[in-house]
Amino acid sequence: MLPRIQQLFLLLLGVSGAICLENGLARTPPMGWMSWERFRCNTDCMAYPDECISDKLFREIADAMSSDGYADVGYEYLIIDDCWLAHNRDANGKLQPDASRFPNGMLDLSDYIHSKGLKFGLYEDYGNFTCAGYPGIIGHMEDDANTFASWGVDYVKLDGCYAHLHDMDIGYPAFGDYLNRTGRPMVYSCSWPVYQEFNGIKPDYEAIIKTCNLWRNYGDIQDSWNDVLSIIDYYASKQDEIIPHAGPGHWNDPDMLIIGNYGLSKDQSKAQMALWSVMASPLIMSNDLRSIGAEFKAILQNKKVIAVNQDPLGMQGRRVYQSDSVEVWTRPITPVQDGQYSYAVVVLNRRTDGTPYRFSQSLQKLGLTNPAGYAFEELFDGVTHGELLPSDNLDVRVNPSGVKMFRAELKAKAEDTNHRPLIFPVGY
Ligand code: GLA
Repeated sequence: MLPRIQQLFLLLLGVSGAICLENGLARTPPMGWMSWERFRCNTDCMAYPDECISDKLFREIADAMSSDGYADVGYEYLIIDDCWLAHNRDANGKLQPDASRFPNGMLDLSDYIHSKGLKFGLYEDYGNFTCAGYPGIIGHMEDDANTFASWGVDYVKLDGCYAHLHDMDIGYPAFGDYLNRTGRPMVYSCSWPVYQEFNGIKPDYEAIIKTCNLWRNYGDIQDSWNDVLSIIDYYASKQDEIIPHAGPGHWNDPDMLIIGNYGLSKDQSKAQMALWSVMASPLIMSNDLRSIGAEFKAILQNKKVIAVNQDPLGMQGRRVYQSDSVEVWTRPITPVQDGQYSYAVVVLNRRTDGTPYRFSQSLQKLGLTNPAGYAFEELFDGVTHGELLPSDNLDVRVNPSGVKMFRAELKAKAEDTNHRPLIFPVGY
């Protein structure tokens, strides 16, 4: 039985018959785990039985997500990326997984993932082939949407290799419509804008936000701090254009969290977690949850940081200050009063000169202007910094290639305290 809200959305869809995204999903950025960045297209189960793209890998990750606390803090989608398919469709033209690596079939694996209280995501490609060369959905869109529904898929990542760039404007909405028509709510993740943008075509974001729950804007994340920086620089350089498209049900996607892999230090991991949360980005990990270090697990499971990411206003944050290789990013969050927001504030030190950098700027300069001020709490250390007025300085030391991340909760005006409660949207 579908939750009532989803039934209502599906009913509205049926009545309007419109091609638009009304699946009621992803009201906050999706959270989960995806295989690509960490496990790529390793199909050699003889040589790498623990790492190859296989039924075994996904069952073990499902076990870790449910038993090691990830599901409890909100990571719910387990998403199988490229290289799960057989090289050919079956005799009826239906998609089929590689038989040796997925001997029990997709429905059995999906049932297992669901039995762990998780949701099941699957990768495909709007094109002739997936990026790794497996069958794409062109020519089979309706059948493939139905196949996904019959396998209990809850989330579809639709890539854009081997596709005509202008066809995407028709094809992505058409496949979204087929997904909706199955009657099974499936989060729809698109790569439509990134392929167009990188080939000099201006993406039609008005159409994209009506079609997709999330979409990739930029290239694939790689396992390095430099790559994390290049991603945040891209989002900062385009922030005026990109930020307005984010909101409940539709999100910009800067790609996976690589925390716990080879490339990021502990401080850099905090930085990725903080910046992705301020950017209202999906929190989709790609790492080995079976062997991840305790310090990385703690960063990924930091509830206060996750609460910023999942803030119900769904407003994407921006870079508001840059000097001496130090940046400040802010995101408006709840509670709200009299047109004043609370904020998440991230001070990012990109410097590498070996000692914590002292940052000191007035709140006003960072755009925090609530006359009654804010209560400041650092979210990784749990240290409160008291109440600061707009004229006060935020004065902190930040490790090299690291962050301090604050929740700055606005203070109510003294005379209004009894009459105007701070507004927390329902469900907060
Ligand atoms: C593209 C996508 C990646 C991943 C690979 C799989 O590069 O951007 O996220 O899905 O394809 O081949």
